[in-house]
Amino acid sequence: MSQRPVVAVFNGPNLNLLGERQPEVYGSGTLADLRELCRATTEAHGWDLDFRQTNHEGVLLEAIHEIRHTAYGLVLNAAAWTHTSVAIHDALALVRCPVVEVHLSDVHAREAFRHHSYVTPRAALVIVGRGAQGYVDAIEALPGLRSDPGTG
Ligand code: DQA
Repeated sequence: MSQRPVVAVFNGPNLNLLGERQPEVYGSGTLADLRELCRATTEAHGWDLDFRQTNHEGVLLEAIHEIRHTAYGLVLNAAAWTHTSVAIHDALALVRCPVVEVHLSDVHAREAFRHHSYVTPRAALVIVGRGAQGYVDAIEALPGLRSDPGTG
C-alpha cells in the first residue's frame, strides 16, 4: 500500500489560546477549528495532516528535525519565535520540502519588532494577514512549490 503524503502544520507559542487571545487581531476561531480546517484541506487532496502546537522552542526544533526528510510540505506559524529564533532558521535549512511561512495577522502592519522574520529566508512562500484562510492557501500552494508536484 502506498503511503499518503504528509503535510506538517506547526504552530508556535501562544497559538493554543486562539479564540481567547486578542480576537480583534487573531480572530475568534480556536486552534481546534484551525486544525479541522487544515484537516479538511489536506483530506480533499488525499494527504495526511501532522498538526502540532507547542510553547517550547526545543519541541518545535525537534519536530522540524523529525519531519525534515519525510514531509510533503511544511506550513509554519512560528509565532513570536519568527522574530527571534536563529535556531529555527538553522533547522529549516535541513528541511527537504517547501516551507510556507504563515501568520494570521499582517505582521508588516504591526509593531516594528514583528517586521523581521528569521523564517522568511527559508520560506518558498510567505502568507500574512489572511487569518485561518492563510493556512488553507498555504496547504494548497504546496504542489506548485515542489519540483515533483505529481507525487502529491
Ligand atoms: C503571529 C504574529 C506574531 O508576530 C505573533 O508573535 C504571534 C502570531 C500571527 O499568526 O499573526 O504569536 O505569528
